[in-house]
Amino acid sequence: MKEIEVLRDRFLKDADSCLSVRDTDELKIKYLGRKGLLAEFRKGIDFKSLSPEKRGSFGRSFNDIKSLMEKKIEEIRIAFDATHAGKRTAAIDMTLPGSGHSLGSLHPVTLVQMELENIFMAMGFYIEYGFDVETEYYNFEALNVPSDHPAREMQDTFWLTNGMVLRTQTSAQQVRALEKYGPPLRAIFPGRCFRYENLDASHENTFYQLEGLMVDRSITVANLISVMKLLLSKVFHRKVETRLRPGYFPFVEPGFELDIRCLLCGGSGCKTCKNSGWLELLPCGIVHPNVLRFGGVDPEKWSGFAFGLGLTRLAMMKYGIADIRIFNSGDIRALEQFTAAV
Ligand code: FA5
Repeated sequence: MKEIEVLRDRFLKDADSCLSVRDTDELKIKYLGRKGLLAEFRKGIDFKSLSPEKRGSFGRSFNDIKSLMEKKIEEIRIAFDATHAGKRTAAIDMTLPGSGHSLGSLHPVTLVQMELENIFMAMGFYIEYGFDVETEYYNFEALNVPSDHPAREMQDTFWLTNGMVLRTQTSAQQVRALEKYGPPLRAIFPGRCFRYENLDASHENTFYQLEGLMVDRSITVANLISVMKLLLSKVFHRKVETRLRPGYFPFVEPGFELDIRCLLCGGSGCKTCKNSGWLELLPCGIVHPNVLRFGGVDPEKWSGFAFGLGLTRLAMMKYGIADIRIFNSGDIRALEQFTAAV
């Protein structure tokens, strides 16, 4: 019957232009609903005028088209369910390669950050992210670095015209957290930092640090070292060679630099470790009494340790990335190798 073929073609055309689950529902109502086109079509047939053979053949064609419509709609629905994102793929054929639709992949620094957050949450630390734009007070002064202090020279700072700074270090969150929570306190502050640097294989102008701060009764260097070692073994899933040397930061006393043996060259020297065999990764120390005072904490009663992990550099070591500039390059081919697509 010609009309039934017209209806079938129209349905198939509409089915092909379905782009969402909602479209599919509408298609179903339009053709198979109580007042849908198929029902209307049936109503329009004068059965009495048909011969018994024609009536039989019409019945068969009608049933065929109805089941074709039901089957097709079901297929489209399954295809949408399979893609989750509501995007349409061809009717499912398990032998076809994946549809290739991807929402992107997590950045390697994000992956390392998430891993560290889990490690520290398991040790009872809470997480704060702080602010990319900071006041001079929290970025420097409250960290025992007044405006005339030579240590300001250690960090090439981006100053804003309103006197604020692009955070040069996640340490800026230390006094904020002390003021907000008081002791005892265990917290980490992952975040983006900015410095007006000469770029090279291990220096970026925009990079990530992860600060840690623990304040309690009788915290010593022994507590600091044990947490640092545990952290490195968990992140690298193996023993990593470390060295501790004195380091100067006005907000800790004593202060240390904890370096790790360069995992890219194994210690023989490369451009990433500047041929030293070691990579500066984890400056740390015992919180200076002045910093505790700035946070309203009595240094006679409380002590603490702090560290400022170079998160971007840690990601370099973990994933064997020799040049830090890859991270912000926006080159998806480079970045997506380190993680499965999400
Ligand atoms: C600091 O920023 C201190 N706030 C760290 C600290 C915290 C010390 C708490 C004591 C107690 P430093 O400038 O060394 O320190 O930077 C810390 C880490 O950030 C470095 O070891 C390095 O891994 C990373 N880093 C610093 N500058 C850059 C840069 N330009 N590019 C990439 N990573 C960097």
